[in-house]
Amino acid sequence: MNSAPLRMAVLISGTGSNLKTLIDANESGAVNLDIRLVISSNKDAKGLEHACRAGIPIKVIAESNSSDQDKQVTASLVNCDPELIVLAGYMRILGAEPLDAFPGRLINLHPSLLPLYPGLDTYQRALDAGDKFHGASIHFVTPELDGGPVISQVQIKVLEIDSAPALAARLGPREHSLLRSTVELFCHRRVEMKHDHVYVDGRKQTEPLLLNENDQLE
Ligand code: GRF
Repeated sequence: MNSAPLRMAVLISGTGSNLKTLIDANESGAVNLDIRLVISSNKDAKGLEHACRAGIPIKVIAESNSSDQDKQVTASLVNCDPELIVLAGYMRILGAEPLDAFPGRLINLHPSLLPLYPGLDTYQRALDAGDKFHGASIHFVTPELDGGPVISQVQIKVLEIDSAPALAARLGPREHSLLRSTVELFCHRRVEMKHDHVYVDGRKQTEPLLLNENDQLE
């Protein structure tokens, strides 16, 4: 088994609480990562502070033209040779160039139980639909927005008194646990995408892995 640190790049746009989760998990030894680069689409992203504090190289790529953006993102990623690229609150859509350069190596964290609610405003959409559960998903990135094969999910109950901010605040810590546990699987090189399907330990998954209350994926 490959026990070398997992070479990783993380793309952010904002707070970077998920990036911080990865940095903290790495520092505590829960995962074994070599985070080689943090790319931000926003020069003021608060998450950049987490990267700087951890001594991780940062790059701001805030092109308004999406083909320039794709070129720069691809070049920066090629340079740092990541095994896994995590889109953690990255608010830009990546085009064909980075996707073709890193097939099966890009994952995205999305705050809904995909295939429900791709795109924005997921909390309000779940409330408007009267859903009993909401949650977060981690999926491989494909050309379809938030449409790639789902690796793992976490669910939380929707309460009658919930507002979108309250739901988001409750989901946050569970989302962080989902990311930590899912990245741990990647550290052990247990997950891959083949022919648009998720494989774990060489077995094709028919359903996403679900995070239980003990933060285990089952
Ligand atoms: C998370 O809710 C994630 O699901 C979504 O954007 C948010 C990022 O938060 N894609 P942060 O920047 O990691 O704090």
